[in-house]
Amino acid sequence: PSNISVFSGIQPTGIPHLGNYLGALRQWVGIQDNSPKSARLTFCIVDLHAITQPQEAEQLRKRKTELLATLLAIGLDPRRCTIFEQSRVPAHSELMWILSCVAPMGRLNRMTQWKSKLGVSSDQDAFQEKSAAAGSKLGLFSYPVLQAADILIHRTTHVPVGEDQAQHLELTREIASSFNKTFKKDILKLPITLLSPAKRVMSLKDPAQKMSKSAADPASRILLTDSPKAVHDKLRKAVTDSIPGPLTYDMQKRPGVSNLIEILAHIQRRQDFDNVAKEVSELSLKAFKDHVADAINEHLEPVRDEYEKIIAESNREVLRFVANEGERKARESAEKTLAEVKEAVGI
Ligand code: ADP
Ligand code: NA
Repeated sequence: PSNISVFSGIQPTGIPHLGNYLGALRQWVGIQDNSPKSARLTFCIVDLHAITQPQEAEQLRKRKTELLATLLAIGLDPRRCTIFEQSRVPAHSELMWILSCVAPMGRLNRMTQWKSKLGVSSDQDAFQEKSAAAGSKLGLFSYPVLQAADILIHRTTHVPVGEDQAQHLELTREIASSFNKTFKKDILKLPITLLSPAKRVMSLKDPAQKMSKSAADPASRILLTDSPKAVHDKLRKAVTDSIPGPLTYDMQKRPGVSNLIEILAHIQRRQDFDNVAKEVSELSLKAFKDHVADAINEHLEPVRDEYEKIIAESNREVLRFVANEGERKARESAEKTLAEVKEAVGI
């Protein structure tokens, strides 16, 4: 157990939403509260990943501060964890370059995330895929290698993420073993993926898509800092169906209603979706949506209160201190691995 090293990251592209929270962030806090003191816990604000899409400089800086405040508000303890900004630890980018020299292009080409960020689905015809890729940037294509570097540089054993990242973790393991084989040294550790029970929370406006920070419609996601009224308004606008009779859980036939049932269940740390559905089956659609909104609000109230305190102007010095300390600890851990990697490579 003393070798446990947990790493995960989140993009500073807006306040985290309920999908980020149930799929990843809540698990980070759970790990913090339940792992042995010897376990190393590292959580990264991945600004280098954020710039794979156009960002406005002032807004990006603001969002990094807000994200740090959110991570503290949900209960991450900077005395226990290393919380840092990716771009402040250059060893991540350096290792990325080295790994780029062992990462197979063909494998990267099969990653689906960069395609979905271009608005091309994975089962798309080749022509449409080609034309979308023509204007796309190298960073969007190669960021899974940066992600591999982020993870491997901290000798990570466990990576708590949502399901959308499972494919990248698989690639990370392949790159690590390919590096170890190429340089005949067991330097890079192969990490395990930890999926939370809420692997994939869906959009409130399009239950075929995952809830995402980057979707155009802000009503498609619940932000951790949304007011109680905003949560009710978004839930009321959530896309469901007009199937008459009792509410039922059926992801295929009733994806909108079922997504809300899953959210309600996950908030209560339950996975018996059918039972949860039975408990609300007699409610009208409107009363059901209000019920889900109430459950979300009750859960998020302490997070919001904490966030307001932490983000206050009078508290900025504390946030700066936390970011500096995180950077210092992350550099120490990353530079150690990078030195060994360079030694093996001969640079
Ligand atoms: P986003 O895709 O919303 O920009 P990030 O890429 O910053 O979010 O991902 C941060 C973490 O949240 C990752 O572990 C990711 O797997 C998880 N995550 C993102 N969206 C969802 C979702 N809809 N359901 C479950 N987990 C999610
Ligand atoms: Na994502």
